[in-house]
Amino acid sequence: MNVGLKTPILPAGTAAVATAARCLAEGGLVAFPTETVYGLGADATDPAAIARLYQAKGRPSFNPLIAHVRDLGAGMRIGRFDRTAIALAEAFWPGPLTLVLPKTADCRVAELATAGLDTIAIRVPAHPLAQAILRAFGGPVVAPSANLSGHVSPTSAAHVQSDLAGRIDLIVDGGAVEVGVESTIVGCFDAPLLLRPGGLPRAEIERVLGRALVQPPHEAENTTGQPLAPGMLASHYAPRTPVRLNAGYIEAGEALLAFGTPAVPGVDAATVVMNLSTSGDLTEAAANLFGYLRALDLRGARAIAVMPVPDHGLGEAINDRLRRAAMGRE
Ligand code: TXA
Ligand code: MG
Repeated sequence: MNVGLKTPILPAGTAAVATAARCLAEGGLVAFPTETVYGLGADATDPAAIARLYQAKGRPSFNPLIAHVRDLGAGMRIGRFDRTAIALAEAFWPGPLTLVLPKTADCRVAELATAGLDTIAIRVPAHPLAQAILRAFGGPVVAPSANLSGHVSPTSAAHVQSDLAGRIDLIVDGGAVEVGVESTIVGCFDAPLLLRPGGLPRAEIERVLGRALVQPPHEAENTTGQPLAPGMLASHYAPRTPVRLNAGYIEAGEALLAFGTPAVPGVDAATVVMNLSTSGDLTEAAANLFGYLRALDLRGARAIAVMPVPDHGLGEAINDRLRRAAMGRE
């Protein structure tokens, strides 16, 4: 597979789906939309393709990947589902939920993709293009978010292009994504763990479980060197511009990422204002989050001041990503 300086972008359609499936089968790297963010797909059973994928993203190789499958039946060939996992899969798949489970004995997914863990992260995406590509390809596809490691996740084909053009084989353009933050990750262990807040609100999961999700302490993950969800590493979502959270005022030269009514002192001094949702709608805010962070990052402001965002529903995932953005890069 030759990666030229330019990576072709194909508009959604049957030709794009067929080309994507063929490219994956040949060991290629294909970016495609899911309902959460754009993913960078590779054949989950092909270690050489996965090695190229890590290289293309510039991702530390200890970070395991999510295997995307067409449905629960396909998931059961690679992961061991207990009753809790089946209940969650039946309630929320296809959709923005990833389950971490023990691998099956004959799991075909390459060790490299699971970073040597004996568990595997599995998700059934709902986006029709992702579904069509998975069905045409026929096997599991590992797909991290289609951004360079350390950048925010891409919510449009243009974002993918600006990070990865020339480094991957194909981009399938399905327009802007719907959810805008990555999937919620639940570890199906003795007690179900919330490994990453995401596009499926915690409360909906807890309603199905009939119990609270346990949340692992963040510090433990960053100090033990063997994180439960290494994607929670601090620098994962950092823009280049410093990010200042819970801004109650704006300093001259700062960009403002607003939420709701931007009634903060100093707002007139902001170099630029982007509002995640003027009506205070968390779903709209999630969909806008990464695109607005990218756009503001390009404006050369001394900092991006972010207004407080409520922590309920999708707000939990939004605040999680904002905290990572504020921690900066290493
Ligand atoms: O919405 C999404 O989940 C997107 C789309 C493309 O599906 N994908 C995505 O992948 O966000 P990525 O690679 O950026 O994040 C995967 C997360 C990481 O935090 C990784 O550490 C965690 O999943 N993960 C993968 N396998 C795991 C495992 N066996 N145990 C714990 N965490 C795991
Ligand atoms: Mg990512």
